[in-house]
Amino acid sequence: MTAFRAAVLDDEETAARLVARVLDQDGMEVEIFSLARPFLSRHREAPFHLAFIDLRLPDLDGMEVLRLFKMANEDSEAIIITGHASIETAVEATKRGAFHYLTKPCKRHDIRLLARRAREKLELRGENRKLKLAMGKDNLIPGFVGASPVMQEIFSLIKKVAVVNCNVLLMAETGTGKQMVARAIHALSPRRDKPFVYFNCGGFTEELICSELFGHEKGAFTGAHATKPGLFETAAGGTVLLDEIGEMPLAMQVKLLHVLQERQVIRVGGTAPIDLDIRIIAATNRNLTELVENGAFREDLFYRLNVVSIRLPRLADRRDDIPLLVAHFIDKFNMAFGKDVRRVSPQVQELLFHYDYPGNVRELENIIQRAVALADGEEIKIGDLPARLQRLATEGLGTGELLTLEELEKRHIRKVLEATGYNRNQASRILGIPRTTLWRRMKRYGLDRLGG
Ligand SMILES: Nc1ncnc2c1ncn2[C@@H]1O[C@H](COP(=O)(O)OP(=O)(O)OP(=O)(O)O)[C@@H](O)[C@H]1O
Ligand SMILES: [Mg+2]
Repeated sequence: MTAFRAAVLDDEETAARLVARVLDQDGMEVEIFSLARPFLSRHREAPFHLAFIDLRLPDLDGMEVLRLFKMANEDSEAIIITGHASIETAVEATKRGAFHYLTKPCKRHDIRLLARRAREKLELRGENRKLKLAMGKDNLIPGFVGASPVMQEIFSLIKKVAVVNCNVLLMAETGTGKQMVARAIHALSPRRDKPFVYFNCGGFTEELICSELFGHEKGAFTGAHATKPGLFETAAGGTVLLDEIGEMPLAMQVKLLHVLQERQVIRVGGTAPIDLDIRIIAATNRNLTELVENGAFREDLFYRLNVVSIRLPRLADRRDDIPLLVAHFIDKFNMAFGKDVRRVSPQVQELLFHYDYPGNVRELENIIQRAVALADGEEIKIGDLPARLQRLATEGLGTGELLTLEELEKRHIRKVLEATGYNRNQASRILGIPRTTLWRRMKRYGLDRLGG
């Protein structure tokens, strides 16, 4: 966010100045007003992100000011300032869209906390909006998420390749979305109404792969009781994804190469060649070039398959997409589980952003699936994450940010408090300090009021 603009509207000068000073110390741009009308007209020409509004004003009723303030800009947040006498009105104000209220005399740290919370809320809302926009942009295949430059490039490559009838080789680590890409290519190709057939080459003998892909005639081998067409035949006009192509036995590679060259297949035990009209997409999470060098993969087959190759990045190499994917998976699993998760806590957000994801998108998907299943309310908390991520939180992420000891202490205490659900006994034990000390620090860092 650019400069965060705040306003204080209060005809009591000392009170207004106090609030303004606290906000200013927090890096906000602050303007003070003693009358509602000039405040509102300024707000209309350049909306404030946040305003502290006194309920009792000389020129307009506070509730009316609130209404006009929100009407001018729905996204602006208001915090109502009130004397004890009008607490009921203040509560009413929050029902009408005020973010919160403060009773006079205002305490510094209440001001600071509420302002920070309001700001966080605004920033989160801004993020969500950006996410929605990014998701809408170039949404090639429903559910295929990626706004990072690399993914955008891959999307345009997919589009180009889809309409050309060439073989494609997908090389990428596990869980990066190879199968998604294959399906996207098929769905965007003229073959989209014909079958998409998946075959995993891993862990099968040459004989089995042969009979699966090429089919067999009745009596071709013991157990071949009936004639069975192969996958290549059933995919007629469509697309075949050969997954884990790097695992294909060498002897089988020769046969496959032959089929691809001739565009014809002969069933096992048969003699009549059958014409094929299929597009082959091969995928592997191994380094095929290296396999070729080692003689484990035939070079001629490699070139036949690799007319166009697409490499998908590791998730850790395109972290910009993480928040997008998180939002996407929350939606997906809300639907599946009938839940209503709306967001992740700031700490969870940070963790998810910095984690390394050896299992790539699939791992992130599993993490969110689990968290949505476990989440108690609208927010995913640190306790909803798997232990390996929670450990990261306590050990620190080593994000490279240079902090003061005080800031580090504050963040660490907050992490432990969040991890323990603000259980002070547990937290003081983990932190190795007496409960009274913990309590004093919590007060000092403003962790005592609004966290729990
Ligand atoms: N860009 C993405 N947007 C949304 N979901 C994705 C994306 N990439 C991957 N996924 C999801 O992550 C999971 C793994 O994707 P996929 O099966 O395509 O990966 P893969 O590369 O084929 O993995 P493996 O090598 O382990 O077979 C799937 O559930 C898929 O829906
Ligand atoms: Mg796969």
